[in-house]
Amino acid sequence: MQYESFAFIYDKLMDNVDYGMWINYIENIIKRENVIVKNILELACGTGNLTIPLAQKGYDIVGIDISEEMLDVAKQKCLEEEIDVVFLNQDMRELDFEIYDLDCVLCACDGFNYILEEEELKNIFENVYKLLKEEGIFIFDISSYFKMSNILSNNTFGENREDIAYIWQNYFDEEENIVEMDLAFFIRNGKYFEKFEETHYQRAYNNEEILDILKHTGFNNIKVYKDFTFLQADEESERVFFVCKK
Ligand SMILES: C[S@@+](CC[C@H](N)C(=O)[O-])C[C@H]1O[C@@H](n2cnc3c(N)ncnc32)[C@H](O)[C@@H]1O
Repeated sequence: MQYESFAFIYDKLMDNVDYGMWINYIENIIKRENVIVKNILELACGTGNLTIPLAQKGYDIVGIDISEEMLDVAKQKCLEEEIDVVFLNQDMRELDFEIYDLDCVLCACDGFNYILEEEELKNIFENVYKLLKEEGIFIFDISSYFKMSNILSNNTFGENREDIAYIWQNYFDEEENIVEMDLAFFIRNGKYFEKFEETHYQRAYNNEEILDILKHTGFNNIKVYKDFTFLQADEESERVFFVCKK
């Protein structure tokens, strides 16, 4: 299973990610695209690392995630921050959302790499298209094919902190373009460490594959940016941002 016990240490292990910079980047995209964004639907919102600050900035935002545990953490953070955000526990492959004419749909930090079938991705994009207003904006990023096949691929990563350690072993299936990620976590509990494991599967998509699906769905004005810049993504970009309009 994915993002069960991991949910409760996710934020600690992501403490090297600059979510403030991420929010600035998203707001700069919105400015450049010249759209008025008041409401946002965020897919695969996780523990609300973007959802909550965006809500604090005044956006009317709803976060959707398949993991109840990730949403539990997000809701707890909202309680602590005294902010009201609607979170829905849904699989974005079976999106059940009936508020239309949205200004913006967002999916950040490689949520779509968890969608393993191209047909499923097509279906999600079609639903997003239906939900957006005319000229509404769709912003998402993926871990690039380059990153998945060259950096993550058949590699092992790990960290050994005072209270948490993990081993992250990856296996890349070149035929299916899927990386199996075997994660073992060790959490300090007094004198000893408790171990738990999760296996995640992420698909490597080429930019062209994604572009074809977006165009086929009807999106236009599509931009493909590299790594938090406004430069066209290239062969060696690791995080690729797609920005398009209905
Ligand atoms: C890497 S985390 C990113 C979380 C958050 N966007 C962030 O920036 O921290 C990926 C998230 O995708 C969610 N996810 C994976 N498959 C999903 C699906 N089919 N529907 C909804 N959420 C999904 C996971 O539960 C997890 O919270």
